[in-house]
Amino acid sequence: MEEKIKELKELAKQEIEKVTNLEELNNYRLKFSGKQGLLTEIMRGMREVAQEKRAAVGALVNEVRTFVEGVIKNLEEKLNEKKLNEKLSNEKIDITEPSKEGEYGAIHPLYKTFNKLIDACVELGFEVVTGPEVEVDKYNFEKLNVPKDHPARDMQDTFYITDDILLRTQTSSVQARVMENRKPPIKIVSPGRTYRVDNDATHSPVFHQFEGLVVDKNVSMLDLKMTLNKLIKILFGENTETRFRPSFFPFTEPSVEVDVTCPYCGGTGCNLCKHTGFIELLGAGMVNPKVLDGCGIDSKVYSGFAFGQGVDRLCMVMDKIPDMRMLFESDMRFLNQVK
Ligand code: DAH
Repeated sequence: MEEKIKELKELAKQEIEKVTNLEELNNYRLKFSGKQGLLTEIMRGMREVAQEKRAAVGALVNEVRTFVEGVIKNLEEKLNEKKLNEKLSNEKIDITEPSKEGEYGAIHPLYKTFNKLIDACVELGFEVVTGPEVEVDKYNFEKLNVPKDHPARDMQDTFYITDDILLRTQTSSVQARVMENRKPPIKIVSPGRTYRVDNDATHSPVFHQFEGLVVDKNVSMLDLKMTLNKLIKILFGENTETRFRPSFFPFTEPSVEVDVTCPYCGGTGCNLCKHTGFIELLGAGMVNPKVLDGCGIDSKVYSGFAFGQGVDRLCMVMDKIPDMRMLFESDMRFLNQVK
């Protein structure tokens, strides 16, 4: 019997050397320490062992069992670790691999245009100020020299919320707010969303404007022309020419409309500029003294100029967009074309 047990231990020693994976280890466990295994078989044979020898033989069997269980546990840990390492090295992520899915986003064409305007104005020393889109009549009209009965109100079909509260029709409302709250020198631009009851290929009920205001001592029409000429050259290039035409805005006196040489044909005439060589870009003028005084700035001491422009139209010109509403439809085919 002892001989048999020693042979079993010897066999267990030899066979564990051959085990290379968890499956083989499991077979080994079944063969030696399983319910039907060799150790159980030996235990069954204990009945035949003489009474006085049983304790010694039992101890011998236990020693083999401890040995077998020990080597199994040991090897199992090693094999599990090996398996995990293999898995980890196979799963290695190549961070340089380009992604197969997903698309790159882009800045909306309108905001690209805004950014160009803002960058150019910041370069010229302007500060960016924004104001509310839901505005009171006072800042959108009254303070800008457009009283309740003024015919200029007809030019701006307004969305009224109450008699006194409306969606601002122009970013000029920010001028009124700033002039009321600050002392000159003032040099601000104000980008933002504006609203009017309009909807066709060149008008959208939601559109965007960009406003500029400078107020200080001795500000003249020359400052206006110099600043706008410089701004336009930054935006459209050094060779761009400007044309100032007399116009009317209630909050500026005198008022002008500013045209620039067509950025496509360079002034020779094309479809975009309707063969005039120029495109209309912005409205501007010297701040009406009534507006200054109405906002608490003494018009005998200070003067100023202002300008305002539709950003959507500028964007349409720059990106050759035929219908303003395309800017707001969020159609990816369109946005991918102009990004
Ligand atoms: N607010 C005017 C509009 O919506 C544009 C404008 C014209 C703004 C002249 C100005 C300005 O600041 O001086 O039509």
